[in-house]
Amino acid sequence: MICYIFLAGLAVLFYVFVIHIYAKLWLLKLKHGKDVEISYFPLFGDYFYLTKSFKKYGDAMEIFKQRYQKNPNIKFVASNILNKVFLFIHDPEYYKSVLVNHQSYTKVEILYHPKLSSTSILFGEPDKVKQQRNLLGEAFTFEKLKQRTPIINEVLLQKLEKEDKTDVLDFLTKTSSEIIIKTFFCKELQDIIVQGNDITTEMIDLITQLGNMQMNDLYVSVKLALLGRKAFGFFPSKKEKLLDARIDRLIDGTLMPIIKNKIANYKANQNQDFLDLYVNAYLNQKPNEPKITELELCQLFVSIVSAGTDTSSHQIAITLYYLGIDRKAQEEIRQELINVVGDEVDIQPQHLSKLVLLNAFIYEAFRVKSTVIQPLTRIAKESHYIQNLKIEKGTYVAALTTAPSWSSKYFNDPNKFDYKRWLSQRPIQEDNGYVFVPFSAGGRNCIGQHMAMMTMKIMIGQILRKYDVIVDQTVQVTFPLVLFIQYSPKNLVKLEKRKL
Ligand code: HEM
Repeated sequence: MICYIFLAGLAVLFYVFVIHIYAKLWLLKLKHGKDVEISYFPLFGDYFYLTKSFKKYGDAMEIFKQRYQKNPNIKFVASNILNKVFLFIHDPEYYKSVLVNHQSYTKVEILYHPKLSSTSILFGEPDKVKQQRNLLGEAFTFEKLKQRTPIINEVLLQKLEKEDKTDVLDFLTKTSSEIIIKTFFCKELQDIIVQGNDITTEMIDLITQLGNMQMNDLYVSVKLALLGRKAFGFFPSKKEKLLDARIDRLIDGTLMPIIKNKIANYKANQNQDFLDLYVNAYLNQKPNEPKITELELCQLFVSIVSAGTDTSSHQIAITLYYLGIDRKAQEEIRQELINVVGDEVDIQPQHLSKLVLLNAFIYEAFRVKSTVIQPLTRIAKESHYIQNLKIEKGTYVAALTTAPSWSSKYFNDPNKFDYKRWLSQRPIQEDNGYVFVPFSAGGRNCIGQHMAMMTMKIMIGQILRKYDVIVDQTVQVTFPLVLFIQYSPKNLVKLEKRKL
């Protein structure tokens, strides 16, 4: 009897996780023919090939790139995650619709935590996000950010003098986080120590561990895929409990007292950092607007620092890697810096638009190796259509914004790293405005993109003025995906002080 029940259970599981989902994918194939490629793998779907790709080629994205290059006309890949359909949209005309109609989706819970991000700009409800983007948008315009270039120069130059740069990525992460905190937040938040770590080291480490656990721990990832946000607090594993305790210490023990103090002592028309803007809105809430809570103020700090730090530092590190590979380009860009910036200590706003070679190189590094491979995957809230493709409620949808960069349909000789392509009149063929969007696009694009470009130019520019970027090309390099694409080994890129 027990044996029959067991077999019946197995049959149900086989139906749900294999036959049913496989049939759904083949129905899509029948309907969309050459527009779609099927990629089924039990439970893990296309994500299985990330590991396979890394093992086979030393590059987590290589299999996906080769697949698209073999079949450049596919509009999307239909895959699965557990028993759900997962669509990886490659065609910019199709993913444009996902990015523009962002209200039709929620974000998957990777990097989500109720205490860390439930009301944050990254994961809040649409009305909340709209309110936050309105409040913060003004501070992120290029005109406002221009005033912050002295801080970026100062923090970087000091750190270049004093800090160890053996692990360049680690150096860049510490520098980027200090720049963001000093640019947008008050003194009280700059010098906090949590558990023996400075606040940004603690926050970045927490968020990296959270993301890794949600993606790579089988128990946690299956729980999330089945229960969504209800998974939090549901039979937590030991690892989850430890992380929850650290998050409590960060929010309740550290940030909340500072926020409460800031609210209690708020004086209007003072320096106006992000918290001042927000405290002002908190104190002057209108009944018809989404409520602003004290937790939201804590989450604002965490989300801005975490969204801006690792993204910038990984992309700068990979750009330095390519500069180390292409020493001729490095010299050309250095010469441009000498011509444009001369003997001035700071790289200033008026220099930025004249650094065209540096800008082109940064773009090409984004095109060839965007360390953020796609915006977070979305889940369809309701059934709807993208052109003739029906997206059922509950479908996972990833706008694979890196895909067009692999295709000769959009870029001439796409596998070649050729930064000068960006100097031509038309670097992108067949551009619908969504082909090259390293900062995503539409209503949920990167609010910090001007800050990111400005920081990247100043940081890379100052490094090139003072250091030679060296990559030992006899060392075998690999590109794992650890939330971000990064190079390995960590000490591959070296900065050697130039003799002036
Ligand atoms: C090279 C650096 C950066 C890259 C490649 C990057 C990329 C992105 C991408 C692709 C998104 C869309 C995410 C999604 O829809 O799931 C995003 C969103 C966001 N980014 Fe950035 N980002 C960078 C730097 C920054 C900086 C410096 C800040 C702030 C100081 C920042 C703040 C944000 C915020 C708050 C969001 C969420 C916006 C929303 O959901 O409405 N980012 N970023």
